[in-house]
Amino acid sequence: MTTRYRVEYALKTHRRDQLIEWIKGLLAVPFVLHSQPTVIYQNHSEGLKTVAADTHQRYAEIMLDVENLISDHIHHEAAALPGKSKLKLLVPTVGTFFTALHLQEAFNYQDERRCISRRRFVAPSVKLVTFDGDVTLYDDGKNLTPSNPVISRILRLLAQNRKVGIVTAAGYEEAPKYYERLYGLLDAVHSSSDLTESQKEGIIVMGGESNFLFRYDRTQECKLSYVPREEWLLDEMNAWKEDDIKELLDLAENALRTCKDALSLPAAVLRKDRAVGVYPVNGVRINRELLEETVLVVQNTVERSAVGARLPFCAFNGGNDVFVDIGDKSWGVRACQRYFNGIDPGKTLHIGDQFLSAGANDFKARLASTTAWIASPAETVDLLDELEAAVGNNSK
Ligand code: IMP
Ligand code: MG
Repeated sequence: MTTRYRVEYALKTHRRDQLIEWIKGLLAVPFVLHSQPTVIYQNHSEGLKTVAADTHQRYAEIMLDVENLISDHIHHEAAALPGKSKLKLLVPTVGTFFTALHLQEAFNYQDERRCISRRRFVAPSVKLVTFDGDVTLYDDGKNLTPSNPVISRILRLLAQNRKVGIVTAAGYEEAPKYYERLYGLLDAVHSSSDLTESQKEGIIVMGGESNFLFRYDRTQECKLSYVPREEWLLDEMNAWKEDDIKELLDLAENALRTCKDALSLPAAVLRKDRAVGVYPVNGVRINRELLEETVLVVQNTVERSAVGARLPFCAFNGGNDVFVDIGDKSWGVRACQRYFNGIDPGKTLHIGDQFLSAGANDFKARLASTTAWIASPAETVDLLDELEAAVGNNSK
């Protein structure tokens, strides 16, 4: 019963990505046509090997077709004909691709290792890698401790003169709070004898999606200093008015309180300078369905308001809490690009765990960069190693 319920729940539209669903639909045909009722001891028979090779071939062809459709879509956008590509007709929700995707090559690569699961291959020219925090670098709600294997990979990126941004929803105004969450990494950067001081300055932290920027600072005990907004805000962000910010947060807070009462959430409301959220009291777990219901109600309420049309915001399910932040990760990633003197979207990779179109905060990063969707910190480490194998020291 539980299993069936979970399967049906996962099929709800707000938990699906249209492009991926469409690709899955294409792959389902050879999967069904080539699957055969066989028993396990026949696994190595010649017949089965042929079937596997045929299936691989069909999958690879489909990947190439999709790859070509994406290239065609990119050309249409470049020719100022967005909306006219065949891909747009087939998948109306499809957005902008900043780089061509070598799907067939990626499929061949992944198929050798794990029978296809990855989503995209990154252009071999990554200059900036931005990381989400919870679930991407460390487990949900935990800290980045010195034993985390991602540390050596991030140091490697810095040593290759790539820039690194941690773009997290966690919204604190004080640097020591971020040190508490990220100390394993910051201490390792600080004590590294391989990195030059300017390479060390290649790491920044963007908190509250796009609200608080910190740069590496070796003179501080917490290794970070706050960067005043005048130094990094994009022009569009300068136009965000304090009155609007307050009005939007008031509206969101009201909606959250209504949900808290209506759904009897065992939660407290937390209002911050640039965010408002509900989080569980005494560490209890809140039902996933209740969290998502809350996100959808708040998102709808704010979206339909006048202020919601003027100001970008991000409502998301953080695993065991719901937050509404001013701004979103597209602005966070763009601000990092600008901070490092204008890095292209096509040379930026954002790695995160939240890419469903509703109730997920990494999703917006797709507007500003190439993205990779991982499901755990261990997958982030694997991805960085694959990236290293694919692009190595080619940091230009
Ligand atoms: P992320 O995965 O690094 O983006 O972090 C998301 C988590 O940060 C949320 O689930 C919250 O638990 C936590 N958090 C702390 N402060 C804030 C805030 O001001 N806005 C949103 N999330 C916050
Ligand atoms: Mg996350």
